[in-house]
Amino acid sequence: MSSVNNSRGNWSSKLGFVLAAAGSAIGLGNIWGFPTQTGLNGGAVFVFVYLICVLIVGIPVMVAEFTIGRAARNDPVGSFKALVPGSAWKYVGVLGVVTGLVILSYYSVVAGWTLKYLWRTLTEGATPHSAAQIAEQFESFTAGGIGPLFFHLVFMALTIWVVTGGIEGGIEKATTVLMPVLFGLLLLLVLRSVTLPGAAEGVSFYLKPDFGKISGDVVLAAMGQAFFSLSLGMGAMITYGSYLPQKEDLFSSAVYVSLSDLLIAFLAGFAIFPALFTVPGLRPDQGPSLIFLVLPNIFSQIPLGQIFGAAFYLLLAIAALTSSISLLEVVVAYFIDQKGWPRRRAALVVGSAAFVLGIPSAFSQGYLPLFAGFLEQADFLFGKVALMVGGLLICLFVGYRWGIAAAVEEIRRSNPRFRWRSVWAVLVRFVCPLAIAVLLVDRILGLFRS
Ligand code: TRP
Repeated sequence: MSSVNNSRGNWSSKLGFVLAAAGSAIGLGNIWGFPTQTGLNGGAVFVFVYLICVLIVGIPVMVAEFTIGRAARNDPVGSFKALVPGSAWKYVGVLGVVTGLVILSYYSVVAGWTLKYLWRTLTEGATPHSAAQIAEQFESFTAGGIGPLFFHLVFMALTIWVVTGGIEGGIEKATTVLMPVLFGLLLLLVLRSVTLPGAAEGVSFYLKPDFGKISGDVVLAAMGQAFFSLSLGMGAMITYGSYLPQKEDLFSSAVYVSLSDLLIAFLAGFAIFPALFTVPGLRPDQGPSLIFLVLPNIFSQIPLGQIFGAAFYLLLAIAALTSSISLLEVVVAYFIDQKGWPRRRAALVVGSAAFVLGIPSAFSQGYLPLFAGFLEQADFLFGKVALMVGGLLICLFVGYRWGIAAAVEEIRRSNPRFRWRSVWAVLVRFVCPLAIAVLLVDRILGLFRS
C-alpha cells in the first residue's frame, strides 16, 4: 500500500498542497459566515472562542483526515475500505461523498449570487442606492429564479473546468494563482475599512471581548463555524491528503492550513466591521443578510465604493471557487478510484448532477412554494448535521478502530519525532468526539425548539 499510485495524480510540492487545502477551507464560510456569526454572537468574544475551537477541535480532526487519506491513497470510500477491509466503515466515506455532492449543489447557487453582485457593482455601483432599493434589488433577484439559475450554471461550469485539469495541472495551478490574489484584495479592503473616519467603534466591537457574553450557544456556534470553515467532516481533507507524497509532513500542513483559514476569516471581519460602524443605521447582528443587504449600503456611501465593492465580490467569488472545486473533487475522486472513470467524464457528470440538484436551491428564495426554504434545509441537514456525524465517526475511526498507533506511524513517515503525539491522541479520542457529539445533539434538539 505504500507504493505511490501515480496515475491518480499528486501535488507537486508541499506549498501547492497547503495552498489547495487552504483554498478548500477558505470560502464563503470565512468571508460570509464568520463575520455573520461574529456579529450575531457578541463580536470579539466570538473571535476568541473561535480561535480555541480551531486549536482544540479543528487542527486535530484535520490531521486525522490528512492521515487517513495519505495512508490509504484513495477517495474517502476507498480509504476506509483500504484501512479496514470488509467493514461497514466504508459507509462513512459514502456519507462524505453524498454530503459533498449536496453541499456543492447549494454552495454553487450562493456563489452564483456573488458573481451577480460582482456584475451589479461593476455596472451600477456608481449610482447611489437607498437601503430600501438595495433590499428590493436583492429580493427581486433571488426570487426570480432564472437569474440565480444562470449564475449557478456559470459558477458550476468554472468548477468543472478546474477539476477537469486534474490535481497538479488544474486544482494546484488554479489555487496557487487565486490565493495570493484573494489575499491582496482582502488586504486592500481591510486598509480601506480601518482608515474610514469613525472606524474605531467597529474595531473595538471586533477586538475588545466582553467575556460576560460567553454562553453555551456562543461556543457551539463557534465550533460549528470552525468545522464548516475548515472543510472537515466529509472527507475533503481525506481526498486532498491522498495526493500528498509521503515525504511531506501532515501535521505542520494541517497547522498551516488551519491558521491561514483563521487569518482570512479574521481579516474578513476587519474588512467589514470597522466600515459597518461608520454608516449610521447599520447594525452588525443582521444575520446572513450581511453580505448582500448590509454591505452594498456601505459601498454605496464610502468614497470609491464601487471599486471596493467590486473587489469585495470578486474576493468572495474566488474564495468560493477554490472551495467548490474541493467539494467536486471528493465526488470525482470517488468515481475515478472506485468506478475507474476517466477524470474528464467524472467531472462533467458529477458537476452536471450537482447543477441539477441545485435547481431547487436556486428557486428557494422565491415564489415557488414547493422549493421554499430548500437551500436552508439542505444546508442544515448536510452542511450542519451530516458534517458533524461524519466528523464524529472520523474521530472514532482514528481513535478506536484504525488506531492511534497506526495513524502515528503514518505521520512519522515524514515527521519522525511528532512531539504532539499524546496531546493529539487525547484530543482525537476524547475531546473532539465529545465536543462534536454535544454540538450534534444540540442541533438536532434545536429542530424541536423552533
Ligand atoms: N470550507 C469552505 C468554506 O468555508 C466550504 C467547504 C469546502 C466545505 N469544502 C468543504 C465545507 C467540505 C465542509 C466540507 O466556505
